[in-house]
Amino acid sequence: MPVAFFDLSRQHEPLQDAFQATCARVLESNRFVLGPDVQAFEEEVAGYLDSHHAIGLSSGTDALLVAMMALGIGPGDEVLVPAFTFFGTAGSVVRTGATPVWVDVREDTFNIDLADAEAKLSPRCRAIVPVHLFGQPADMECVMALAGQNDLYVLEDVAQAIGATYQGTRAGTFGEFGALSFYPTKNLGGFGDGGMLMTDDAALAETVVRLRNHGMYPKYVHPLLGGNFRLDSLQAALLRDKLPRLDHYHAARREHAEAYLSELAGLDGIAVPTVSRDAESVWNQFTIRVLDGRREDLRAFLRDRGIGTEIYYPYSLHEQECFAGIGRGGESLPKAPRIAREVLSLPCFPELKEAERSEVVEAVTSFFRKG
Ligand SMILES: Cc1ncc(COP(=O)(O)O)c(C=O)c1O
Repeated sequence: MPVAFFDLSRQHEPLQDAFQATCARVLESNRFVLGPDVQAFEEEVAGYLDSHHAIGLSSGTDALLVAMMALGIGPGDEVLVPAFTFFGTAGSVVRTGATPVWVDVREDTFNIDLADAEAKLSPRCRAIVPVHLFGQPADMECVMALAGQNDLYVLEDVAQAIGATYQGTRAGTFGEFGALSFYPTKNLGGFGDGGMLMTDDAALAETVVRLRNHGMYPKYVHPLLGGNFRLDSLQAALLRDKLPRLDHYHAARREHAEAYLSELAGLDGIAVPTVSRDAESVWNQFTIRVLDGRREDLRAFLRDRGIGTEIYYPYSLHEQECFAGIGRGGESLPKAPRIAREVLSLPCFPELKEAERSEVVEAVTSFFRKG
């Protein structure tokens, strides 16, 4: 039986009538940029995450960039970022003119290694960006302690982890900012690009509201250099149709992940991810490490059986050509480049069927039995 890595049509099919009605309503309103649907969506997400402010933006990458602009990060500053994450996390740091400090990640959770972050601190470090990778919150107790002791801003990249909790608190609400993405593959996936910043700080929220509209305040007066980072009305309106279903999607992902964990744990040749006792993951991805250089063989074996997999991410960011000569700390990353060559993500979307999941488990198990 073929198993798709990801199939959004299954999630959207039962919601078609609601989506059609929403589109008709927004088209009739002739209000397409920001507006009442964006404001309502911001309030709903803020309520869901228990954040004082949520500001809708054009993408998760722009959310990270705008957060750093609002914090005044720029040339001469350093920002601690994990070397193993999506490109946009570090790309936004470099776009402000600041220098990324490449921090290693943990093999068990794939999240930032705080001992390495501490070792790489310098007086120029102004912020740390913990990424809650694959849906699991980073060790926020240590992040907040390190930031408190060293006067660092905390910008959480919560693109993959909307709704995840750490010690009972929502990821994305610990630091100065949490940055969300609504890219279609995310747990709350939109219909194009979209993002959001959460903050409890009213002044920072106000700055973000101005930055997303060219730094304009009042009309045609620009005290700040902003950009067009606005969220569309249609995007927000459609995301509002999906938000009430998010916990249900999370529960289905969790069920798949727990089954994979129990059925694949102990298999010689792979390492399953560890979930920290403090964290509740929302399983944006279920990612294993394939040991002994056998990832491509396993991937090809699964492909031959029609089972889709993905590699998030094939390179440590310090290896990317556009970062050559940029950044600090790349010479001391014993784990990130190796992890990038071991990771393989298995199908783990909410609508995956139990029989399909069993097919994946059976195929992975038989690959290693064959030796
Ligand atoms: C960890 C992480 N950070 C940032 C982003 C950027 O989000 P977007 O694609 O909405 O720009 C993504 C998503 O692609 C991501 O997975």
